[in-house]
Amino acid sequence: MQRSIFLEDYKTYTITAALPYANGPLHIGHIAGSYLPADIYVRYLRLEKKEVVFICGSDEHGAAITIKALKENTSPQKIVDQFHAINKESFEKFGISFDVYHRTSSDLHHKTAQAFFKDLHSTGKFTKKTSKQYFDPKHQQFLADRYIQGECPKCENPNAYGDQCEKCGSALSPLELKHPRSTLSDQKPELKETSHYYFPLNQYEAFLKEWVLNQNKDWKPNVYGQCKSWIDAGLKERAMTRDLSWGVKLPLENTEGKVMYVWLDAPIGYISATKHWANQHNKNWRDYWQNPKSKLVHFLGKDNIVFHCIIFPSLLKAHSENYNLPKAVPANEFLNLEGDKISTSRNHAVWLNEYLSDFKDKQDELRYVLCSIAPQSKDSEFTWLDFQARVNNELVSIFGNFVNRTVVLTHKYYKGNIPNTSWGKDEQSAYEQLLECAQEIKHYIEHYKFREAQAACMRVARLGNKYLADLEPWKLQKIDPERVKQIMGFANYLTLSLGILSEPFLPFTAKKIKDAYGYNTQDYSIQKENVTPFLTTLKKLDLLFEKITDEQVETQKAKLIPPKKTTNMPDQKEEITFDDFLKIDVRVGKILTAEKVEKADKLLKLSVDVGLDTRTIVSGIAEYFSPEDIIGKLVCVVLNLAPRKIRGVESKGMILMAESENSLTFVSPRADALPGAEVR
Ligand code: 2FM
Ligand code: ZN
Repeated sequence: MQRSIFLEDYKTYTITAALPYANGPLHIGHIAGSYLPADIYVRYLRLEKKEVVFICGSDEHGAAITIKALKENTSPQKIVDQFHAINKESFEKFGISFDVYHRTSSDLHHKTAQAFFKDLHSTGKFTKKTSKQYFDPKHQQFLADRYIQGECPKCENPNAYGDQCEKCGSALSPLELKHPRSTLSDQKPELKETSHYYFPLNQYEAFLKEWVLNQNKDWKPNVYGQCKSWIDAGLKERAMTRDLSWGVKLPLENTEGKVMYVWLDAPIGYISATKHWANQHNKNWRDYWQNPKSKLVHFLGKDNIVFHCIIFPSLLKAHSENYNLPKAVPANEFLNLEGDKISTSRNHAVWLNEYLSDFKDKQDELRYVLCSIAPQSKDSEFTWLDFQARVNNELVSIFGNFVNRTVVLTHKYYKGNIPNTSWGKDEQSAYEQLLECAQEIKHYIEHYKFREAQAACMRVARLGNKYLADLEPWKLQKIDPERVKQIMGFANYLTLSLGILSEPFLPFTAKKIKDAYGYNTQDYSIQKENVTPFLTTLKKLDLLFEKITDEQVETQKAKLIPPKKTTNMPDQKEEITFDDFLKIDVRVGKILTAEKVEKADKLLKLSVDVGLDTRTIVSGIAEYFSPEDIIGKLVCVVLNLAPRKIRGVESKGMILMAESENSLTFVSPRADALPGAEVR
């Protein structure tokens, strides 16, 4: 296979992995999306003796953290302290080999972010604007985008946030939400004037068109495509400050109560983390961020693409010092779990810290499976059955089996002393195949194709198994012991090579193999002259992998089954007959007018076209909807409900609503349903 020359010559490598929010534990979606691919890449670079800094840390600001603190009646600092510790430890145990795991609540980060802000501000890169923003009168505070929920204008998800709809993925602004409500008080927020600093992203369109769309055509199609659609849709200015008390304070006079937008300070977190690491290691952080001979690569999930490919590069460009721009942003799509999206709130997730305690010393098993199914170009899925199959049929039966055979036979025939002999035709041919696999691994890693790289590594194990199965040394030992020496000498060659090549993917296993040979160099070469010197003795090795049992699978699956009653849902009502059900006449209706009922906070008086007539219905929805928001809305109406007088108004029918603890939404037919149509 024809290969390009590997690894362009950069002086240093600056590799970042998205800073996870410190408001919850990590799950396998995070790992498969960002941290594992980044770790594979970095381990490879280090083995290739590159100077690299692998950067990550906790993203400790943002409204999600303050909301959690509020709900749990604690402080944001307590929350981030707790999860910073948990996540740092999980990463370490899982073998994600960050050089630095920093924190955005640190003083160094605040200072770095403030200096960055000041540079942009003093060189006129921001515009200050006053606008109306949502304000919660009960809590007397402006509402950050995340504090506002309402109906998504694109997909009608009733629980979209002011910055994003998590159902359809649309980026939103709070004013776009229909029926907004404050997540603090659950009440309708007011619009009030406030001033903020904006970054005119629209002015960076030409730069982005040239840099992303022209110069980075080789970016992964999912990343390039997302950037293109953002740029094509037209970029808008973005507020870079927020009215919040938790975050990086603005380095400007008279800006009490305002902090930097979390998506401005978080990526600067990569820089402050590098400074922290550089201070401790006697390095110069600028060599990693401002020297054009450094290669900056960001690893992240698809929801972070716009921030790393559009917004942060424009901010770096706007800064008066010459910052490097990322050379690659190999973002992944999402990992689903057992047929559903991973959801933190529904606890539909495999949490890394739980995995590590349920499956002791089985980091490589999860690394292997997550790399095999990584959502590199489209969403992919993790299931426990597939986990079991991949571990049992691939790691145990192929990888582990080959290494174990080598260990057992080397000890049986030679007490662990590896025979040193020349190679014959079979060995030469297997060696060429091994070199081919090694080339492929490097090629794929350098092109961020980690699944393919790992598959090429597994081919080495397959090659080893086939080599032994074809030559059957156990049948030859009695008749041709010299040939068996040759075979076992080479089997050890392949085994140590497998140990060397598997390091980026399976670092714990690789270490066991290398240690068994006393291989102690930092090298990614499996050339004859590099490996042979270490083929003297082989220590005994326990089985590298063991089978995952059906019981383990069942236990894990059971954890995902949602508890029967998740919230305060009312119990099922008394059974009714089909005839009872048919008595209810539900029709599509269209709200024509709506007004408040005097002296009744909860009531709206509606006139509704129900096809047969237009009638008055009084509905208890005023706390959630204002009259102007619902005019024209298609709804479902119980038509034959006996008329009732409510606050002096005769109400003829009832509007169907979906109601849960803190949300109320219309049961809405699609826009093409006609008033009067029967609902059954
Ligand atoms: O989406 C997230 O989890 C963010 N905390 C990622 C931040 S990445 C970077 F910019 F710091
Ligand atoms: Zn949506």
